[in-house]
Amino acid sequence: MRSFLLLWLAWSVALWAGPKPPQAAIASAHPLATAAGFEILDQGGNAFDAAVAVAAALAVVEPAGSGLGGGGFLLLHRARDGRQVMLDARETAPLAARRDMYLDAAGNPIPRASIDGPLAAGIPGMPAALAHLAENYGRLPLRCSLAPAIRYAREGFVVGPRYLEQVERRHAVLGRYPAAAAIFLEKGQVPRPGFRLVQPDLARVLEALAARGRAGFYDGWVAERLLAGVRAAGGVWSRADLARYRVVERRPVVGRYHNVRVVSAAPPSSGGVVLVETLNILSAYPLTHLDPATAKHLIVEAWRRAYRDQALYLGDPDFVSMPLRRLLSPDYAAGLRAAIRPDRALPSAWLAAGPEAGGAGADTTHFSILDRDGNRVAATLSINYLFGSGFVVPGTGVLLNDEMDDFAIKPGVPNLYGLVGGSANAIAPGKRMLSSMTPTFLETPDRIAVLGTPGGSRIISMVTLAALDFAAGFRPALWVAWPRFHHQYLPDEIQYEPDALSGAERRALHRRGHRLKALGRTYGNMQAILWDRFLDRVEAASDPRGGGSAVVR
Ligand code: GLY
Repeated sequence: MRSFLLLWLAWSVALWAGPKPPQAAIASAHPLATAAGFEILDQGGNAFDAAVAVAAALAVVEPAGSGLGGGGFLLLHRARDGRQVMLDARETAPLAARRDMYLDAAGNPIPRASIDGPLAAGIPGMPAALAHLAENYGRLPLRCSLAPAIRYAREGFVVGPRYLEQVERRHAVLGRYPAAAAIFLEKGQVPRPGFRLVQPDLARVLEALAARGRAGFYDGWVAERLLAGVRAAGGVWSRADLARYRVVERRPVVGRYHNVRVVSAAPPSSGGVVLVETLNILSAYPLTHLDPATAKHLIVEAWRRAYRDQALYLGDPDFVSMPLRRLLSPDYAAGLRAAIRPDRALPSAWLAAGPEAGGAGADTTHFSILDRDGNRVAATLSINYLFGSGFVVPGTGVLLNDEMDDFAIKPGVPNLYGLVGGSANAIAPGKRMLSSMTPTFLETPDRIAVLGTPGGSRIISMVTLAALDFAAGFRPALWVAWPRFHHQYLPDEIQYEPDALSGAERRALHRRGHRLKALGRTYGNMQAILWDRFLDRVEAASDPRGGGSAVVR
């Protein structure tokens, strides 16, 4: 009793002593990006200024994953008033876009039309997000927080092995566009180790943004070059597309898993909805007390149902009406749970018929930030596939996204990642394409987590596993490192990393009727922070699968 009282007293004092973390933390996919964030914190910036610095730095030093030519979702928590908001910087379809723009006369998808080249690019949201963040949440002017990225772009940096592998995979398309080849290749070839990536044009665009805010990108000489370059290469962007692009502040999706408050991405990301629906289904099972194969079976069955609903219902909230109250309701989850058998897999084809899984890219990036005031940012940013569309607009250094492939190009036809979609995610002028990006906060009275990862449709299953690990009391080094498994309704198979399922688990899952697919490789690049208010300790972890860096200081 005495020790319980002491514990209770210590807990109350820790919380009363103030919601301020003892240290700041940044976890990102590149050491230079993490360093850029701390450079800005050291100048008196807050987490939001640091987020501008990290996002812009990633655009320079991890060009395969995100950039000024792309978009993303930034989940913010402002300590001063507890405000939590999602900045929706998702790309929009150009006004000239049409539902069947990637289909031939016979109605069949034109191979790679939504993946390579400027016709695949949505209108970028990232530059507007950086300006919005600095103006509305930051303490420092853009010219300060963009300075590290401008320096990296102008002076260059020596690329690592990850960059060389990524170029190898997109060598053909980068080679097709001279401005891309001049920047990312070495004499038309995959660069040799020790290659210095220098991007003076991108430095000038960042300077225009620093000087003029959003107008520096969506207006003036940068906009002129973007329009001329895109149109000359077969794209359909117009001046109106750039002028009307706006970041939207949206209310995050909020749910609860046992004592954990889950705050995550709202549509047009499917991330938060699928995450909360999955956790709602799982909340009645004693997962940590079940044998591992049964626990994994139940997690898969929950994903099967939540990913099915993503495909059926989700899209851009400004264009489609979605039954969010139902999808996020514990009662709805209880109904879904009632049809889950612990001893049998339900074939996906037996679930209510409808358009199938929504779209998402496999690359992308994520960073997490916590500052010493307790402000937080979880940001997942993307240009979709590795190096996006592969098209750099001449004279700008801006590599364009191929996010249009995240729309359902044609109902029932799989995209690059084997995913198919329905009318909620059909292409329309000005519409935002559905995403899987899942920047997330997990909160209990004494522990706060900030996390996310790239990885296309697997993003949501990765964040689910991390949320379960958080709820079970594990530390971030384990959330980011443990081997992963995944199911997304269709294809109807459990995909898994090496070592994710033991032989006995594989046999037990097979007996229940699951199809198993060994990926033979790892995926994801999770960046996570834990602030333990009870222990007054901050921890950060960067996924060992990537070349990132997590620093607490
Ligand atoms: N393009 C990746 C995603 O939005 O999920």
